[in-house]
Amino acid sequence: MACMDLWALSDLCTPWCVHVVATLRIADHILAGNADIPQLAAASGADPDSLHRVLRHLVSKGLFEEPAPGRFALNQAARELLSGPFRLGLDLDGIGGRMAHAWGTMLSAVRTGRPAYHEAFGRGFWEDLDAHADVAASFDALMSPAGHGVPDAQVLLDPADWKSVRTVVDVGGGTGALLAEVLRAHPETRGTLVDLPRTVARSAEVLLAAGVAGRATTAAQSFFDPLPAGKDLYLLKSVLGDWPDPEAKAILRRCAEAARPSGRIVILGGVSPDDSPSPELLMMVLIGGKGRTLHEFRELAHEAGLEVRASGRQPSGRFVVECSPA
Ligand SMILES: C[S@@+](CC[C@H](N)C(=O)[O-])C[C@H]1O[C@@H](n2cnc3c(N)ncnc32)[C@H](O)[C@@H]1O
Repeated sequence: MACMDLWALSDLCTPWCVHVVATLRIADHILAGNADIPQLAAASGADPDSLHRVLRHLVSKGLFEEPAPGRFALNQAARELLSGPFRLGLDLDGIGGRMAHAWGTMLSAVRTGRPAYHEAFGRGFWEDLDAHADVAASFDALMSPAGHGVPDAQVLLDPADWKSVRTVVDVGGGTGALLAEVLRAHPETRGTLVDLPRTVARSAEVLLAAGVAGRATTAAQSFFDPLPAGKDLYLLKSVLGDWPDPEAKAILRRCAEAARPSGRIVILGGVSPDDSPSPELLMMVLIGGKGRTLHEFRELAHEAGLEVRASGRQPSGRFVVECSPA
């Protein structure tokens, strides 16, 4: 690789500039008519000269335009930074800052094979969220429709299988976005949302807005404890990839215990086909999580008392794995 390419590849300046302008909501301020540097600096609480230099750097990279010296405008790329999902994930004052700074702990993570998030924030990721309600709220928001969009309710590989499903548990279901969509799509079905108390506490408005609150219950508990038992379907969406093998196996074991004898467990996210493994490096630095190939997952599931019954891609491209108690 040529020297210049390597320089561009290793440049940390641009990503930090993007995070800074997202945090300062510069795109929103420009949209509101504060386009000149003195106005922009006043509106965002920034130093005018420093902000100007950051914006000029970004203009040179194709983000924002400077139609006249010291006056900035949105281009298509900059519109992505208007308040919305992308900005939420970049905001250094919220979960975006945790994700950004966690990259600085990567050397320790690679040297030791364990997350070193505590080196940056004094405690592990989940404990850090426990200690900072505002960051936890922004994490939940990033997981919600406002962040990751409205989830796809078609969680089963064969839609005809819904005939046999009357009760669903969304394990680690965040503030209930997926459960809400599933219940909305299947009016005969009742559901239970399992997540940590602080997150479950934010689910009421999601379930109410979807018009499914009457068919939903919540269980504010850890998924390392026994789960609501005897239901037809247990969903694990974007959960297993957060955890190293021992914890992922423990969660699967809880699902297996609860689903016996005839329930099924569906994994959405965190498992990929054997020919396209995902490195999941963000999970590595944040929480020591990992992506698994289907082969790796099958072994883990087997040790947890589950058998993989089916796997495949849905029309959306999402890879889904269905299991049942062994
Ligand atoms: C990556 S998020 C995924 C949320 C949701 N399933 C989705 O796809 O948007 C992981 C979820 O696991 C929850 N979680 C973490 N530790 C947990 C625990 N010990 N017990 C229950 N939920 C937990 C978090 O609160 C969070 O909602």
